[in-house]
Amino acid sequence: MTAAGPMRVIIDTDPGLDDAVAILHALNTPALAVEAVTAVAGNIGIATTTRNVGGLLAAMGRGDIPYAAGAAGPLAGDGRTEVAIHGADGLGGVPLPPAWVPPDSRSAMALMDAHLRAAPAGSLCILALGPLTNLAHLANEAPVAYARIGRIIAMGGTIDEPGNAGRFAEFNMAADPLAARMVLCGPVPVTLIPLDVTRRLRATPEDLDRLAAFGTPAATLAANLIRAYFAGHAERSSRPLHDPCVMLMAVAPALFGTERLRLTVDCDAHPGRLVQVPHGAEINVALRINAGQALDRLWQGLGAAA
Ligand code: BDR
Ligand code: CA
Repeated sequence: MTAAGPMRVIIDTDPGLDDAVAILHALNTPALAVEAVTAVAGNIGIATTTRNVGGLLAAMGRGDIPYAAGAAGPLAGDGRTEVAIHGADGLGGVPLPPAWVPPDSRSAMALMDAHLRAAPAGSLCILALGPLTNLAHLANEAPVAYARIGRIIAMGGTIDEPGNAGRFAEFNMAADPLAARMVLCGPVPVTLIPLDVTRRLRATPEDLDRLAAFGTPAATLAANLIRAYFAGHAERSSRPLHDPCVMLMAVAPALFGTERLRLTVDCDAHPGRLVQVPHGAEINVALRINAGQALDRLWQGLGAAA
C-alpha cells in the first residue's frame, strides 16, 4: 500500500497451480487492487485457463472483477503446455466453484485496452504470470493504450540457472519467444523475475500445515493447490513458487535484489533464451530474494482475514 492507496493491477495469467496461488494472494492483499484478470494459453489451453480464472474469482467471492479470454496460442509456432506439472485441468485436480459470471464478451486485449484508457496514464500495472502473448497483441493492436501501462512485472526467463523448457529457456519465454522479445524491448518498463529467484521461493510439506491452519478461504485453497503441486513429485522435499514472486515484488520490493541488465530474447537457436547484449533493452531483473521473509509474507497474505 502506498500513500496514494493500493496498487492498481491487471493480472495476465495461465492458471496453472502457481498462478492460482499468486492470484489468491493478490485477491487477499489490500495493497493490491485487482481491476481485471486476463487469461492466456500456456500451462494449459485457453478455455481451461479462462475457466480457472472464473473459478478462482468465485472461490474468493469476487464476481465483481471482470475477466476475459485472450490468445489461444503464441504469435508464431505451436506453443507448449505443462500438463505433466499442472494436470489436464491446470490445477492438479483441485476443484473450484463454478464462475459467478461468464467471461467478459470482449477479448483479454479489448478488456485491457478499456481499463487502460479509463485509468490515468501510468496508474495501472500488469502482473504477468504466463506467456506474454496477450501483451504483445495489445502492443500491436492498441499501442496508445499499451503505452499507458505504468509498469509490467513478469515471471519469466533465466539468467544463470538451467532452463525448465530446454537447457537455456524458461517456460513462459519459450512458450512465446517473439511476444517476450516484443514486451521486453517495448516502451513500458519491465521488471523480470527469472528462475534464478523463483526457484529459491519454495514450499515444503510442513508449510502446508502452517498455511492450512490459517483457515481463510485463500489459505485453505492455496494449501490444496500446493499439495497437488507435490503430487507425482513426492520424492521432492520442496516445490518452487514461481508466480507468487510477482505479487511479492509488487507489494514488497525490498525482499528482492535487482540489477539492470541489457537483454533480448533469442527467437532462433534456443527459442526463449534470454541473451545479454550491449544494445538490448534495459530490464530491471530480480537476481536475489530473501526467501525466508518472502515465504512468511506470502503465507501471511494468504492467511489474513479478508
Ligand atoms: C512458469 O511456467 C509455468 O509453468 C508456471 O506457471 C510459471 O509461470 C515457470 O517457469
Ligand atoms: Ca504461470
